[in-house]
Amino acid sequence: MIIKLSNGKEIPVEMHKARMVQKISLIPAEERLAAIEEAGYNTFLLKTKDVFLDMLTDSGVNAMSDNQFAGFMNADDAYAGSMTFYEFADAVKDVLGFSHVMNVHQGRAAEHLLAKIFGKPGGAVMTNYHFTTTKAHIEVTSGMACLELYADEALKTKSAHPFKGNMDLQRLRDAVKKYGREKIGFVRMEATTNLLGGQPFSMENLKAVRKVCDENGLLLVIDGSLISENAYFIWKREKGYENKTVAEIVKEMAGLADLFYLSGRKNTCVRGGFIATNRKELIEQLEPWLPFYEGFYTYGGMSMREIGAMTVGLREMVDPSVAGCSIEQIKYFVEALDAAGIPVVTPPGGLACHVDARRFVSHIPKENYIAGSLTAALYIATGVRAMERGTISTDRDKDGKEVYADLELARIALPRRVYSISHIEYIIDRLRWIYENRKLINGLKFVSEPPVLRFFLGKLTALDGWGRKFCDAFKRDFGPSW
Ligand code: F0G
Repeated sequence: MIIKLSNGKEIPVEMHKARMVQKISLIPAEERLAAIEEAGYNTFLLKTKDVFLDMLTDSGVNAMSDNQFAGFMNADDAYAGSMTFYEFADAVKDVLGFSHVMNVHQGRAAEHLLAKIFGKPGGAVMTNYHFTTTKAHIEVTSGMACLELYADEALKTKSAHPFKGNMDLQRLRDAVKKYGREKIGFVRMEATTNLLGGQPFSMENLKAVRKVCDENGLLLVIDGSLISENAYFIWKREKGYENKTVAEIVKEMAGLADLFYLSGRKNTCVRGGFIATNRKELIEQLEPWLPFYEGFYTYGGMSMREIGAMTVGLREMVDPSVAGCSIEQIKYFVEALDAAGIPVVTPPGGLACHVDARRFVSHIPKENYIAGSLTAALYIATGVRAMERGTISTDRDKDGKEVYADLELARIALPRRVYSISHIEYIIDRLRWIYENRKLINGLKFVSEPPVLRFFLGKLTALDGWGRKFCDAFKRDFGPSW
């Protein structure tokens, strides 16, 4: 909730209180340098004992509510026919309006099944923008091309456009004409588009995409991993929706999809995921493969306890104080950095504060992994673990050639209900210092590079040993400890 202080300043105030906490610690700069060196300048490979604020992701690390824990404890642990699954299916019907649902062990498992069953080898999937695991399954599992049909504005990191996650309708029509409907697996709209910097699409755009799908007999799939955030943005930004509730908007969005899936690790604050639909013939195509890849129909690879917590999380996610809690923190964070002249993705999106590394460390050539370098520097200076979302997160093409990412972002994720404004203020302060000292940051190069999704396990090294110089400069200004 936004509260206006007596001096006119607005601050996001948390509509929850902490009743259980986890101790964290900030190790000295010298130890942070050693930790990132050992992790091959890849923040995925850091150990949490070395991490102060874990802002790698909002995935599976959100705070659960007391009622979610109750749902977790009350779950009916049966291999088959668990009543917890049927209670979950009721929540899916109530919140999203779908009559058929199957759990999967996480979002990418849903992507795997959708690509396997609805893929058209040699054809294409049209999407507003790819996500790493989605693209991998579209290309590797089903041998399709992943066409990203975003509008030009989407790649402008400094922008005031409220819906940079929109699909460009002309590009969609052209692509449909080029491929022909029989070669199109499906059209995929990703809510609060992750790799564009958590940018939403509008309801108007979603309806227009639905219309093109209807005209051409195409399946519309919504990736709703961040659906409640997208709905919150529609509520705040789209004309005609200001008097609707987030719950109504979520249901209206879901009602436009033939197939809906999500990673349960984000909005529903647990782990796992699911696929849902109102079209029986679609779920019937997926069903036989569920026990093959995931688990029996009433658990789908998840634990019943997490399905119990997910049931509560699904109902809670449409509460505006839950849907908007990290969005309002991100807005505060982004606006403060923007005011300080630090390049960030605007307008503020969901999921994270995205620092635009291409503008921040503009002296680093694209071959030397711009966002990866900044993400490592942020860790050395703060103990904050962010995530590279740029060229390292984009695998090489079939011929082994580097594919340079559209955007080079250091993503500082805000898990829901985990961190406070004082944590954000600390990062804002240190980012100002990093920005003043940005010329000390240099590029990276791979020392070991996995062939697929290389960002998870790849190891790199700092060119000219810049990590040492950067750490020494930090210690000169702040002392050895912080
Ligand atoms: N779709 C979107 C939009 C996602 O953000 C993610 C995961 C997935 C699908 C895959 O789901 O991890 O449960 O298999 N995003 C995480 C992140 C990994 O950090 O942004 P998953």
